[in-house]
Amino acid sequence: MLETETLTTAAALNQATRGLAGAGIERARSEATGIWASVMGGETTTIWLAGDKPVDPDALAEFWRKIARRASGEPLAYVAGTAAFRLLELKVGPEVLIPRPETEGLVDMVLKWGTHRETEDWGCALDLCTGSGCVALSLAAEGRFSVVTATDSSHQAIALAMQNERMVAHDTRLRFLVGNLFEPVAGERFDAIVSNPPYLTVEEFAKSDPSVRCFEPRMALASGEDGLEHTSAILAGARRYLRQDGLLALEIDSRRSEAVLEAAGEAGWSDVCIEADIFGRPRYLLAKHHNGSFDA
Ligand SMILES: C[S@@+](CC[C@H](N)C(=O)[O-])C[C@H]1O[C@@H](n2cnc3c(N)ncnc32)[C@H](O)[C@@H]1O
Repeated sequence: MLETETLTTAAALNQATRGLAGAGIERARSEATGIWASVMGGETTTIWLAGDKPVDPDALAEFWRKIARRASGEPLAYVAGTAAFRLLELKVGPEVLIPRPETEGLVDMVLKWGTHRETEDWGCALDLCTGSGCVALSLAAEGRFSVVTATDSSHQAIALAMQNERMVAHDTRLRFLVGNLFEPVAGERFDAIVSNPPYLTVEEFAKSDPSVRCFEPRMALASGEDGLEHTSAILAGARRYLRQDGLLALEIDSRRSEAVLEAAGEAGWSDVCIEADIFGRPRYLLAKHHNGSFDA
């Protein structure tokens, strides 16, 4: 399907587009252009303008390797090596989950809570299960926290999140720590704790689309037989790490919003609500560490 001899940009892109379309990729031309940009550099909007330019053979060979990976079903973000999240373009690889659009809404929940605060400085935030660092880095770039701490049990994920930090403009102090949930921040207190933890059942993960199950890290997605191991552990521990009036914001599976509410009650949270994502699905649990109504 794919040639390695020197071609012009346009010829190579046309050939790659046909290859991807033949493999069932819907937005074949746009994806081929994105993969081209990931190898050759440049803006996707201007690549076709230089269509008659001959291409370096080594770079072309790398391009064909990436096209073959995409044609075999590997997610575009891993092939291109980057993913967009809110205002950021982040590096991603097989060691981290590809950031999802619904997680952008989780960041919105925290930003909304912050803008209702009476203080200019929102204090300290903790992002548990940070993966690529998308949530922590967005809070640093868009919020007014003085310190954002990000933790993950995967050394590789934290290493990648730290690379991403170098690509993001922010005035916030960031800390990246490796360890199980709250373990790396024992004894500390935060104004906001946010997390998109693993929340699929083992069975749901096993039955998920091959583009997820065969490429994304199982430890980023599966959370025991009931899908609630991580969420329950966070609900059980978070109040010990939150300051008075502090916010806990969790992304949850819409199929388990009732079970999550129940787990929150069992863990002693009284000021709890579930918020919907942009599609109206119950996707976020918000809880406050005080008595009274939730007003984020
Ligand atoms: C659903 S991913 C979320 C990644 C990122 N926050 C996002 O929204 O794209 C969950 C992350 O939790 C991490 N993780 C899994 N178990 C953990 C644990 N016990 N303690 C800390 N992190 C854990 C995984 O390595 C993975 O990076």
